[in-house]
Amino acid sequence: MLLELKQIGKTFGGIKALSDVNFAIDPGQILGLIGPNGAGKTTIFNMITGIFSPTTGSITFEGTNLVNMPPHQITGLGIARTFQNIRLFGHMSALENIKVGMHSVTRSGFWASLLHLPLQKKEEAHVWERSMELLEFVGLKDVADIRSDTLAYGQQRKLEIARALATNPKLLLLDEPAAGMIESETLQLMELIRKIRDNGTTVLLVEHDMPLVMNLCDKVVCINFGVKIAEGPPEVIQNHPDVIEAYLGKEDE
Ligand SMILES: Nc1ncnc2c1ncn2[C@@H]1O[C@H](COP(=O)(O)OP(=O)(O)OP(=O)(O)O)[C@@H](O)[C@H]1O
Ligand SMILES: [Mg+2]
Repeated sequence: MLLELKQIGKTFGGIKALSDVNFAIDPGQILGLIGPNGAGKTTIFNMITGIFSPTTGSITFEGTNLVNMPPHQITGLGIARTFQNIRLFGHMSALENIKVGMHSVTRSGFWASLLHLPLQKKEEAHVWERSMELLEFVGLKDVADIRSDTLAYGQQRKLEIARALATNPKLLLLDEPAAGMIESETLQLMELIRKIRDNGTTVLLVEHDMPLVMNLCDKVVCINFGVKIAEGPPEVIQNHPDVIEAYLGKEDE
């Protein structure tokens, strides 16, 4: 087991956003986390990455308790994410965005790089090489020097993924990576996520695009109003009456 959530509950100002959520991810899996708007999916990501602490329950990554650990330390353990709303440095090039992502894990760090310490020279060459490698991996090598806010929407989404990969994560969390994509971009994204997994990174995916989820995931967890209502292989989830009801609403209502 790579990541395990046990009896996770989260309350915001007296309102229960999540209660008693349990699930686990094995290494090498692509796990889909689905559920209607407001179900609590992003909140789960925020707790795994240390933005919020859960009100109850435990989160362990390779046996280490993540609860109350600061975000940068969780990144250091090997967890990276993308955000539901694109968060790139728009005025920076694609390449610069990746470099920023890498500075959180380089040895000399951000301040040393500003001071141009000797170790930093060597590292800078490495950072450039690795950043270009990542851009090539996601299919953005040709636009390395283009300002990120002028890139096509699908390209910006891929750039966010590349930036997350810059920390060499064991686990990558993707929050609605296909949102706003046209079909051809979604197909490319699917291939990219498969490639990421085949390269040894486990993937936890929040997504509303059901064909993508059902095609890509080894296992799917569905939550509704903060409660897990189903878990299983895609073909089971697709036909699960509670999942269908959560998405479509009861017909006689
Ligand atoms: N920081 C916060 N403060 C107060 N309430 C919050 C906060 N973050 C999330 N919530 C509430 O928790 C619930 C779950 O929100 P969350 O963003 O996790 O849903 P989601 O499943 O990601 O939905 P969507 O598919 O629309 O992105 C919602 O009712 C939301 O209003
Ligand atoms: Mg969300």
